[in-house]
Amino acid sequence: MTEVIGAHHEFHDEDFVAGWADRFVPTPERLELFNTMLSELKSHISSTGCVVELGIGPAYLADHLLKAMPEIQYYGVDFSRPMLDIAKGRLRAYSDRVTYVQADLVKDDWWTGIPTSTKAIVSTWALHDLGSQERVEVVYRSCAQVLLKGGMLLNGDFIKPEKAMHEYEAGRFEIAKHLEMLRRVGFDYAECLVMLEEELESPTAAQNYACFKGTVNEGA
Ligand SMILES: C[S@@+](CC[C@H](N)C(=O)[O-])C[C@H]1O[C@@H](n2cnc3c(N)ncnc32)[C@H](O)[C@@H]1O
Repeated sequence: MTEVIGAHHEFHDEDFVAGWADRFVPTPERLELFNTMLSELKSHISSTGCVVELGIGPAYLADHLLKAMPEIQYYGVDFSRPMLDIAKGRLRAYSDRVTYVQADLVKDDWWTGIPTSTKAIVSTWALHDLGSQERVEVVYRSCAQVLLKGGMLLNGDFIKPEKAMHEYEAGRFEIAKHLEMLRRVGFDYAECLVMLEEELESPTAAQNYACFKGTVNEGA
């Protein structure tokens, strides 16, 4: 049988979620991803701006950003109650700056709990879990609509390498397709900022991820 690169998750199960959070404490490569996003945010939003994270999970990225940008307001979206509980625990020190939104990104109204004054949406390792390119595209489109003019989406997610030697689950697809999609749904500019842990021959489900940036022009 052909091996498909991907992972099975049970994000509504408390024990699975606790195990996931323990297994995926950020590595140096993931910290590089977080720092790539941090430097984009610092140059793009005001020091008191608002950041929305899709699929906040155990809040490793949120912790990193809230520490480095001490005045930002943060909205963490996730459909998993156990993940939101872990996030709340990790971010206790920032409780006055964080709002938790329990919402399913597959539903059309997931964005109703986030503010209309958002200039930055971020996400890591989450959108591929929506299960298809079509679902990622729908979320990209909502982001382009929700973001203020001059807003930015940063998505650091698993991809399928252009020269892949394996099958990949449907939510993991090529960088070029992400960029085409970002432009199609309304971002005026799209680029891939970095590719991390590239592995073609024997990839694990936690390798091959890239960071995409999509921006909406001020005057758009
Ligand atoms: C693989 S984890 C990554 C967590 C975190 N972003 C990180 O990088 O450590 C994926 C996260 O996305 C959330 N998620 C997956 N599908 C979702 C959906 N349809 N709606 C909202 N959240 C979802 C999961 O509950 C989980 O917290």
